[in-house]
Amino acid sequence: MDQLIVTGGRPLSGTVNVLGAKNAVLKHLVAALLAPGRHLIENVPGILDVETMCRVLGHVGASTQREDHTIHIDVPEELRPEAPIDLVRQMRASILILGALLARCGEARVALPGGDDFGARPIDLHIDGLGRMGASFELSHGILRGSAPDGLSGADVYLEFPSVGATENLLLGGVMARGTTIIGNAAREPEIEDLAAFLIKMGARITGVGTSTIEIEGVPELAPARHSAVPDRLEAGTYLVAGAITGGEITVERCVPDHLRMELRKLGEAGCEHETGENSIRLRGPKRPSPVDCATLPYPGFHTDMHPQMVALMSLASGTSVITENIYDARFRYVGELNRMGADVITEGQHIIVRGVPALSGCPVDACDIRAGAALALAGLAAEGYTTITDAHHIDRGYEGFADNLVRLGADVRRERG
Ligand code: UD1
Repeated sequence: MDQLIVTGGRPLSGTVNVLGAKNAVLKHLVAALLAPGRHLIENVPGILDVETMCRVLGHVGASTQREDHTIHIDVPEELRPEAPIDLVRQMRASILILGALLARCGEARVALPGGDDFGARPIDLHIDGLGRMGASFELSHGILRGSAPDGLSGADVYLEFPSVGATENLLLGGVMARGTTIIGNAAREPEIEDLAAFLIKMGARITGVGTSTIEIEGVPELAPARHSAVPDRLEAGTYLVAGAITGGEITVERCVPDHLRMELRKLGEAGCEHETGENSIRLRGPKRPSPVDCATLPYPGFHTDMHPQMVALMSLASGTSVITENIYDARFRYVGELNRMGADVITEGQHIIVRGVPALSGCPVDACDIRAGAALALAGLAAEGYTTITDAHHIDRGYEGFADNLVRLGADVRRERG
C-alpha cells in the first residue's frame, strides 16, 4: 500500500487546476446506461472511484474507454441487470445503478452498498421512492432484488431527508417512467444539477433541479449524449484549506466559486482573505487561523465532505471551535489520528470540539477515508517534522495527482510504497 510523506512548514503558493467532480462523474457513468449507443464524458478525473464505476458498467455489459480526461461509454441494447458485490462494497455510489437498471431492464440485483465507514448509511429512501414508482424489492443474502416488470410509473415522492443519492436514483428512475414524477424535499447539490444537465442532453424532461421540488416528465427513450462534468468543489475546497493552513497564497482555477459560498464564508471567519474570479478563487491564509463554529448541512450548507479539512485547520486556531456534523453519525475516525499529531479534539455526540494548539507535530497516521486522508495531509503540511500517511489509496479515490499538485504549490510531499 502506498503512503504519503508530508514534511511541514512551507507556506504554499501558486496555482492549481481542479478537474470534474467525482460525485458528478460517477452518476454520469450510470446515467449513460439509460440510452444505448456511444456517450462521451469530458473533464473526468483520473481517480480510483471512476475506475471502480467503469468496472461496474463493464459488469452490466457496457464498455468504457479512457483518453486523458475523457471517457467514451458504449452502451449495448441489452444489459445484464446486476452489480457485483465486490465492487458495490467498495463504493456506495454504485447503488445508483438500481434506478438505472430498473428503468432500462425492469429488474436489478444489487449488493447492499459499502463505501466509507461513516456509521449507518441506509438506503431506505431510495427503496421507498422507487417503490412508490412501482418497483418491488426483496432482500436476501445481502443482495437486493428489485423488480418492475411493467416498467416504472411516475409518482409523487416526498423525501424525509434531502438525500443526494436518493434524489439521483429517483431522477434516473423517473426520466423514462410512464407519466410525471415529482421529487419533493429534493437535494439541491450542484452535482445533481449536473446529472440533470446530462440527462436533459440525452432527451429527458426535467425542471426544478437546484430547488427542493424536481419535476420529471417521463419520455419513452433517451439518446446518447456528450457532457463535460462540473468542477469538483471538494477538490477546490481542499486546496483552499491547504493554502489557508500553511498561511500561504494560492489560486484555484477552473472551479465554480459560487458552489463554495458557505465554505468560503467560514474560511473568511478563520481569517483568510479571498477574491473570486469567474472560474477561480485566490486565497491568502492568516498567520494563525481564528476559531470558527460551523455545522454541516445539505447544500447550500457547509459540506460534510469538507468537515475533516476544516477540523484540521481549526486544530491550529487561536481558540476553541465547535464543528457539528449533521449528515453522518460517525464521521470521526480521523480525530484520533489528528490528536496523535498533537491536536486537541474531542467529540460529544455530533459535536467536534477543537481546542486550537500552537503547533502540530508530524507522526505516522492512517488515511481512514478520502477526506480524512486529505485532511491529515493538510495537517501534515502545517506540522513540525514529517507525517507519514498510510492507506494513501483512500486519497486516490477522490483526488487525481494530489501529491503532485501539492508539490507544484511548493509543498514537500513524497509518495512511497509502504
Ligand atoms: C453523497 C456523496 C457524499 C456526500 C453526501 C452528502 C456521492 C458519491 N457521495 O453521498 O460524498 O458526503 O452525498 O453530501 O455523491 N440516508 C438515509 N437513507 C437513505 C439515504 C441516505 O438515511 O436512503 C442518510 C445517510 O445515511 C446519510 C445522509 O442520509 O446519513 C446523507 O446521505 P446522502 O445525501 O444520500 O449521501 P450519499 O448520496 O450517500
